Amino acid sequence: MTSDNRMTGRTLVWAVGALALAALVAVGCGGDGGGAAANDQMAKGEKLYQQTCATCHGADGHGMPKLGKDLHDNAFTKGLSDQEMLQFIKQGRPAYHPDNTQGVDMPPRGGNPSLTDDDLLAIIAFQRTWN
Ligand code: HEC
Repeated sequence: MTSDNRMTGRTLVWAVGALALAALVAVGCGGDGGGAAANDQMAKGEKLYQQTCATCHGADGHGMPKLGKDLHDNAFTKGLSDQEMLQFIKQGRPAYHPDNTQGVDMPPRGGNPSLTDDDLLAIIAFQRTWN
């Protein structure tokens, strides 16, 4: 009888513990706006990339002959922080620039002046998945 009671008590402790843990996990995920926001940013970046950058860099980001360069496993972008990349995309790289290899312009903001810095940072976050 005594041992039965002890078992029940222990089971109860486990049950309460498991419930508390489940609640904690639920709060951890639901309350973590950062994770959801990061996903939103990625989705937005992909959409904007397809609208603006894909014309020259390809829908898959592998570049186009005589147009945008391959952005996969790209040494140039890997060497830049997000802020540096933002500066680069805002300026572009004109055909006359000494570093230009394609002989065509990388236009400022990909030729879409309506893209805000936030938009470009979303594109950068998306583009990072290729590096
Ligand atoms: C009109 C065509 C065009 C569009 C649109 C365009 N690019 Fe480019 N991009 C280029 C060209 C051409 C180059 C390569 C210039 C060169 O020869 O150095 C380039 C280069 C780059 C580079 C540097 C790659 C390297 O290896 O040096 C990055 C990063 C880049 N583009 C990102 C973007 C992003 C992000 C967008 C969209 C916001 C975009 N581009 C839109 C034409 C384009």
